[in-house]
Amino acid sequence: MRTYLVTGGAGFIGSNFIHYLFGKYGDSIRVINVDKLTYAGNLENLRDVSGRENYTFIRADICDADAIGEIFRDNDISRVVHFAAESHVDRSIRDPGVFVRTNVLGTLVMLNAARAAWERPDGSYPEDHRFLHVSTDEVYGSLSEPDTYFYETTKYDPHSPYSASKASSDFMVKAYMDTYGFPANITNCSNNYGPYQFPEKLIPLMINNALNGRKLPVYGDGLNVRDWLYVEDHCKGIDLVMEKGTLGETYNIGGHNERQNIVIVKTIISTLRDMLPDSDPRKANVTEDLITYVADRKGHDRRYAIAPDKIRKEVGWYPETTFEDGIRKTIGWYFANPEWMEHVTSGAYQTYYKEMYSE
Ligand code: NAD
Ligand code: DAU
Repeated sequence: MRTYLVTGGAGFIGSNFIHYLFGKYGDSIRVINVDKLTYAGNLENLRDVSGRENYTFIRADICDADAIGEIFRDNDISRVVHFAAESHVDRSIRDPGVFVRTNVLGTLVMLNAARAAWERPDGSYPEDHRFLHVSTDEVYGSLSEPDTYFYETTKYDPHSPYSASKASSDFMVKAYMDTYGFPANITNCSNNYGPYQFPEKLIPLMINNALNGRKLPVYGDGLNVRDWLYVEDHCKGIDLVMEKGTLGETYNIGGHNERQNIVIVKTIISTLRDMLPDSDPRKANVTEDLITYVADRKGHDRRYAIAPDKIRKEVGWYPETTFEDGIRKTIGWYFANPEWMEHVTSGAYQTYYKEMYSE
């Protein structure tokens, strides 16, 4: 039975990916989820898989080489999907150190542990063993010319401490492939949205604030552009790259769905108004009057846009979910799971929000 080691599986994309794996492969695989459970890790995301016999959760820090080495020694792991990271740009601007620790050093620990477990004395690796490093389009920097896109060949030009740490981790994975013939792929994906996303990120923050009649803080002029992808489509892309991708290659994953932030915020408002019944007392508060322009993010990248041509051509992936469907599914999920939002926004989130938005 094939065993997957998923790092960061209690986070937003990792938990969606574990659901995706069980939905696709059922009982024919095992999944080990290794997560430190930082503020962003939440085992509630995995409640419906936690009772499965072929699922194991291990609380561990990816920077802990002993703990990670032991997990490889105790389990016959042939697939690593490495999500664990500090992922929020605003937090990286306030505290870069933990981004270097987890994203760079943690990735190095993962590479060393996998290599120690997999490399044969002659330097070769078992045929079906693969390490997939999940990365971001932010490593490519910011696009200034219209109709230009990030390709796999685009030069790295990270600006935030977050994207610099992810770029460093990508280079370390590339170095292991080039130096040791390590069997890996890198995927660089655009902005995800969907169920289980922590409300520090634009879309869930705006949904939660609007439903609570709170201001909707738009950075700068609101005209920065992101390329939004429904998270399940990202999960499909990762799985397809592991199954059909060429080892050693990088694949960009993106939705061809560029939108200005202000357009996203207005779409959330109109979709909420459309989906809330007239009898819901929250509906009256959900209006564009909530929109508030606030100070811009430092070093704010203007535009990201992925050209997903290579992944389409080589593994047959394409973004299946339109933004209009994806945002309705996402809002529907937050409607159906109010207790999830209540739990994640109690405690430390309140302090973060006050400090970040000076309310
Ligand atoms: P997230 O912040 O929701 O989840 C990160 C998870 O990693 C959490 O469960 C956290 O507890 C865990 N973690 C953090 N530090 C750890 C450590 N030292 N040891 C073990 N676990 C640790 O992040 P996400 O949005 O799900 O992103 C997952 C990955 O995908 C990241 O590598 C991110 O760079 C990448 N990515 C994210 C997006 C996006 O739009 N969210 C887009 C492209 C790429
Ligand atoms: O592009 C992929 C990246 O997308 C991932 O690598 C990151 O892990 C992920 O966090 C995301 O980064 P962004 O910085 O693009 O996402 P965020 O949701 O934080 O912000 C999206 C845009 O919205 C960005 O231009 C900043 C703006 N924004 C964000 C927040 C939280 C606001 O205007 N107001 C806000 O309150």
